[in-house]
Amino acid sequence: MKPNQRPKRPHYSSGPCAKRPGWTPAVLSDADVGRSHRSKPARAKLLEVIERSRRVLGIPDDHRTAIVPASDTGAIEMALWSLLGARGVEVLAWESFGSQWVDDVIAQLELHDARAWVADYGELPDLDNVNFNSDVVFTWNGTTSGVRVPDGDWIPEDRGGLTICDATSAVFAMELPWEKLDVVTWSWQKVLGGEAGHGMLSISPRTVERLEKFKPERPLPKIFRLTKRGKLIEGIFRGDTINTPSMLCVEDALDALRWVESIGGRDEVRRRSEANLALIADWVEQSAWASFLASQPETRSCTSVCLQFADPWFSALEAEAQAATAKRVAQKLEEEGVAFDVGSYRDAPPGLRIWAGATVEHGDLEALLPWLDWAYAEVKRAS
Ligand SMILES: Cc1ncc(COP(=O)(O)O)c(C=O)c1O
Repeated sequence: MKPNQRPKRPHYSSGPCAKRPGWTPAVLSDADVGRSHRSKPARAKLLEVIERSRRVLGIPDDHRTAIVPASDTGAIEMALWSLLGARGVEVLAWESFGSQWVDDVIAQLELHDARAWVADYGELPDLDNVNFNSDVVFTWNGTTSGVRVPDGDWIPEDRGGLTICDATSAVFAMELPWEKLDVVTWSWQKVLGGEAGHGMLSISPRTVERLEKFKPERPLPKIFRLTKRGKLIEGIFRGDTINTPSMLCVEDALDALRWVESIGGRDEVRRRSEANLALIADWVEQSAWASFLASQPETRSCTSVCLQFADPWFSALEAEAQAATAKRVAQKLEEEGVAFDVGSYRDAPPGLRIWAGATVEHGDLEALLPWLDWAYAEVKRAS
């Protein structure tokens, strides 16, 4: 039997994620379109995004925050290319995006004093063995496996190297120990439900010191350059972006940040995400066919919730049939208009991935869960 209730908004994509509740294109009506991004009003808005983000996230006063090109990928690669090579590197990965940063460090930057700590989907590498005398590169929340680090206790206060953290699917949903993170990157398109294309970069005083003292032996394209003649370009951290941003996207980011503040700030967005995860966890507990891809409860993501099919019928299928079955389940949900974009990531094990960040309404998730049972049963019956 088809469930009779439908989610009001079937948006569960893991990026770009659902817009905030109540969003309409009208929120963009004050955007400084057609103006130079260097003009007074446009620059004021760029600075406002930086300042509001810092306030909402509780970024320490002595850390600097910038809007940078090319979304989260641009922000993290700018950090890797600008900072790495001064000492050894430890790079951690447990899903596709972390693996891309491993590739950057080992294959692209060809850093020889580098060690990769790679775990399978669903697991974390052994965090206790990481050498913090080296620079450490990691992803706070693995978006394609739904596995997050449980906290920052494994990161020492005192460390020789820098910690470089891709936190794009974690900020605004998970508590981050900012003092222990020398570089943090994210984009507006995840928990904020903003637009893609622009990255955010937050750096500690130790990172500034590295940038000013260390000149990597590699050419840096303009969009990666944070220093000029050995000094940090401070303007980048005050809204003088390296290249041209979209003022529509900036207006949208401001709307998202104002929304976060209006509902109670970072505690409330975190609470909403965690409550969404708890709802799914209760359902998984009762489910005869779904389980979390994350093997440990404390590592389950409260944003990109990744589920696998834990059903003997499914396990007995060949790998290709498993992948096709998972795709059909996601397709059925989309055809019914109850869930868009919930297929697992292309490199991840077959399953479903449901975004549970703060812009997803609890009631919509409640309405979705019976549809998952329905779609799985339909696909199984028809096979
Ligand atoms: C952990 C992680 N890192 C990096 C990216 C790439 O982000 P963007 O496309 O915003 O550059 C994503 C996107 O899903 C991600 O989840």
